[in-house]
Amino acid sequence: AAALFESGLLAGKRVVITAGPTREALDPVRYISNHSSGKMGYALAAAAVAAGARTTLISGPVTLPVPDHVAFHPVESARDMLAACLDQVAECDIFIACAAVADYRPAQVQGQKIKKGAEEISLPLVRNPDIVATIAAVEKPPFTVGFAAETQDVLAYARDKMQRKHLDMIVANDVSEQGIGFNSEENAVTILHESGQRTLARATKFNIAREILEEIARVYREN
Ligand code: CTP
Ligand code: CA
Repeated sequence: AAALFESGLLAGKRVVITAGPTREALDPVRYISNHSSGKMGYALAAAAVAAGARTTLISGPVTLPVPDHVAFHPVESARDMLAACLDQVAECDIFIACAAVADYRPAQVQGQKIKKGAEEISLPLVRNPDIVATIAAVEKPPFTVGFAAETQDVLAYARDKMQRKHLDMIVANDVSEQGIGFNSEENAVTILHESGQRTLARATKFNIAREILEEIARVYREN
């Protein structure tokens, strides 16, 4: 595998990767977010560079160092992330959506800090745009890869997501298993595409990232 990478598996290809969580503001000091560490997306970015790709990383707030030779675009909200992705899509061969995008955001952002009062309050939320589905629906879409975080019926839900969002490939993640996936060092995934699937046994996120990029490069070339 290492030799494949050093030979420039993705030489000259333009790869755009989303990573990390998004933050959805509630007021000037508060937000809704999730526990995504960004590790899988950052590992993909480092592996894409190693494979010779011109790599852009569009990332929500995380505490990781940006890999060398990556064009870095930090964002906060899902809507910011979508705008940054649309800015890049015309110059993108392969789009990989690894971010844990918040599905909902507060319906209104209060201009001032919300003051404590009632014993109970409720918070109306509205749906965020679907970034990867939007990218897959542009006039000339890149080869588009999604991730699917599932706790049950992992492969069935993942395949359904791939079809509904018109993705070329989806990486299915069983987030019910301890010590893999969300916010951990290791991962184990199954890669699904139109004409096949491949399971990658538990390994470090960097090794999983390399294998995902190998599979992407293989299917991309056949497309
Ligand atoms: N995704 C996205 N924009 C969103 C939500 C998700 O681009 N607003 C992308 C993720 O980056 C991932 C894929 O869609 O590549 C699947 O994300 P996931 O949360 O597993 O699926 P959802 O479609 O949001 O469905 P649900 O959370 O209800 O399972
Ligand atoms: Ca979701």
